Amino acid sequence: MAVDLLLGLQWGDEGKGKIVDVLTANYDIIARFQGGPNAGHTLEFDGIKHVLRTIPSGIFHETATNVIGNGVVIDPVVFKKELDGLEKFNIDIKTKLIISRKAHLILPTHRLLDAASEASKGKAKIGSTLKGIGPTYMDKTGRNGIRVGDLELDNWKEKYRALTNKHEAMINFYNVDVQYDLEEMETEFFEAVEVLKSLQFIDSEEYLHQAQKSGKTILAEGAQGSLLDVDFGTYPFVTSSTTTAAGACTGLGVAPNKIKDVFGIFKAYTTRVGSGPFPTELFDEVGSEMARIGNEFGAVTGRPRRCGWLDLVALKYTAQINGVTQLMMMKGDVLSGFKTLKVCTGYKYKGETISHLPYNIEPENIEPIYTEFKGWKEDLTKMSDPSQFPKELNDYIDFLEKELEIPIKIVSVGPDRTQTIHR
Ligand code: GDP
Ligand code: IMO
Ligand code: MG
Repeated sequence: MAVDLLLGLQWGDEGKGKIVDVLTANYDIIARFQGGPNAGHTLEFDGIKHVLRTIPSGIFHETATNVIGNGVVIDPVVFKKELDGLEKFNIDIKTKLIISRKAHLILPTHRLLDAASEASKGKAKIGSTLKGIGPTYMDKTGRNGIRVGDLELDNWKEKYRALTNKHEAMINFYNVDVQYDLEEMETEFFEAVEVLKSLQFIDSEEYLHQAQKSGKTILAEGAQGSLLDVDFGTYPFVTSSTTTAAGACTGLGVAPNKIKDVFGIFKAYTTRVGSGPFPTELFDEVGSEMARIGNEFGAVTGRPRRCGWLDLVALKYTAQINGVTQLMMMKGDVLSGFKTLKVCTGYKYKGETISHLPYNIEPENIEPIYTEFKGWKEDLTKMSDPSQFPKELNDYIDFLEKELEIPIKIVSVGPDRTQTIHR
């Protein structure tokens, strides 16, 4: 069977967790392919809100098997906390969650290195979630990393100590004020490693290969968003992994010709958390209204998310890079009550009008060109069928579909699993 892919088309937090949960009923396997605990994927059902970090968003379904792929980086400490939070839901974690031996581990010193690196950058800081993501991927590509499979070796702690010693020297090199008690961090880490070791480690590429051969359906779950991709995002204000469709191939061992549908998720407006350029960002009351109504605070760090109008230039770019076959528009309900809505359909760039994303989108180079739409007043959150949509919402959706040349198959009108409208 083919593999379907689901990924965020903006700067993350599009609502991937919610939609993976909604779609899980159609799949046998849900597999995370990149990122780590910098992700916060929110699911809501039966009046309870869950935020998942490393565990795939199919975990609450009876039948689905959840795979943490080789492309993911795992912090045993955060992972243990995540498991503790799931305890009361009686999930059979030992059979429903399996972990790639090739996934890399985030060590306590990776987190410290993240903090030291950010502190050394001053005003130019990335706005990282400080979960150790960058340093762990650096050790991966630098061929120094420690992988889940290493935990099955007797001498893994020797490798750990050598790497940690090197990290401490690097932290000193940064010459910034990072206070830490490594011994305390390590006690917590080694305890958490034991919990991790109690779960199933597998050669996940082989597992997924056999699953495909036997006709199982697989949904690959992305983290972050395409504009945070290390190659195609707003570099250097990006994360350190491939968040685009190609990341599912390298992060799971799935061949490109086995990918069928690519589900691209976007908010009806745009948000960003952390530093970096954001052409359609709003600094006025409209922006703060969006943030208030949309409850735009980071699921991981609690930081306020920056808000702005939908950027169609950026969305076309990411839809193209990912080969998106179906779109899902999230948080349409948040826009109810805005008199006028704007969509950025081009940029003024160094005196010229352009309709593609140029190399440099710093505010001094770019001025968004907007197309305006009449807003709608109706509350969407209780709607259950597209026939109930106000005309203005249909106009907004039709315009986006025409411009993107991709159908919008789901419109989400609230955080709950049930507030999902299929078109
Ligand atoms: P993810 O990282 O892509 O999974 O997204 P996050 O969970 O970080 O952020 C999305 C936020 O929006 C969460 O708080 C969700 O509960 C919420 N959410 C998702 N879809 C909708 C929607 O259609 N309307 C509203 N109002 N909230 C939504
Ligand atoms: P989900 O999966 C939104 C942002 C950070 C920072 C930059 C680099 O929930 O959509 P990192 O910790 O990776 O070094 O941070 O990327 N970032 C996210 N923003 N959603 C996420 O994940 C993010 N993961 C990282 O805010 O700007
Ligand atoms: Mg999130």
